[in-house]
Amino acid sequence: MSDEILKITSLQTHFFTDQGEIPAVDGVSLTVHKGEVVGIVGESGCGKSVTSLSIMQLVPSPPGKIVGGTIHYKSENLLNASKKRIKDIRGNEISMIFQEPMTSLDPLFTIGNQLREALQIHKKINKKQANQKSIEMLKLVGIPRAEEVMNDYPHQLSGGMRQRVMIAISMACDPEILIADEPTTALDVTIQAQILDLMKKLNHEKDTAILLITHDLGVVAEICDRVIVMYAGQVVEEGTTREILKNPTHPYTKGLIRSIPKLHEKDQKLYSIPGTVPKPKMGMLGCRFKDRCEFAHDRCFSEAPELFSLGNNRYSRCFLLDDTERKVASDAEANTGS
Ligand SMILES: Nc1ncnc2c1ncn2[C@@H]1O[C@H](COP(=O)(O)OP(=O)(O)O)[C@@H](O)[C@H]1O
Ligand code: SF4
Ligand SMILES: [Mg+2]
Repeated sequence: MSDEILKITSLQTHFFTDQGEIPAVDGVSLTVHKGEVVGIVGESGCGKSVTSLSIMQLVPSPPGKIVGGTIHYKSENLLNASKKRIKDIRGNEISMIFQEPMTSLDPLFTIGNQLREALQIHKKINKKQANQKSIEMLKLVGIPRAEEVMNDYPHQLSGGMRQRVMIAISMACDPEILIADEPTTALDVTIQAQILDLMKKLNHEKDTAILLITHDLGVVAEICDRVIVMYAGQVVEEGTTREILKNPTHPYTKGLIRSIPKLHEKDQKLYSIPGTVPKPKMGMLGCRFKDRCEFAHDRCFSEAPELFSLGNNRYSRCFLLDDTERKVASDAEANTGS
């Protein structure tokens, strides 16, 4: 499709450690179209950050290395691009924001300084124009007293305000796509909702595509058009947000949905999927979710499920979605019913 902004195909990012080779991202494919908001969701350790860092070649290396796959930005394979080209694209056409804005903002420079610099690196404008545009950007992201904040240092702002500033910096050059890795995780719920609203607004007004990485399916439900569910380095389910929430097919996705806190049931104990995400290993046997799955059966221990296509761009990596197994199950049901 011509409106594909970002297309990752069979990405393999491995870490070469003393304990051996870790396939942290093991064959991940995903596409983000123009103006689309796509979520990557999964518990901590599923490979979400390594996937997003791979896009802009920011995986710490060594020990990390991209050992397979392609990452296309429009028609260009970024894995073949020069360092200079990647530097040009970063912040200009593809922007990134992270969980803790304090690590991305320089404590020694004022907000105005950092915004102006972001603008002047990529756009040929003079200091006065950069100043004006910086104030405009701060207003756009809902920062009150924008002119005064220009002279503030990062530590003078609250966490929510700092994340707004980071969004302003990352949006300053009108990127085609914003990659946001857990942008609201460190913030309290009210501020989190405001930041998500802001991202939604920027997506609507500027048609910026967003790849939103989060462990929280509740966040995905707020703003994403489509969801990719990751588990232990692989995509396990994919579909529109509506479909995934209404009709999840993978047992892991079902578990994540059960874990979303319900607003009206404040006193209830929150469900969490028993066990933890296994560390990916080379040559892992069977389904990676088998030890935590209530539907695990013999086949799940000996064979690794592929990503089954369910039509309508829906995919699920579970044998229960394999047509032959589904048929056996429904025949058995029919037999017991008769
Ligand atoms: N610097 C590193 N060295 C070795 N392994 C790493 C490193 N960073 C990440 N990993 C491996 O990659 C896996 C996925 O990490 P990550 O992408 O950060 O997960 P997520 O963002 O989903 O919480 C980790 O469980 C770990 O095994
Ligand atoms: S393949 Fe088996 S273990 Fe894996 S999610 Fe499906 S039922 Fe569970
Ligand atoms: Mg992460």
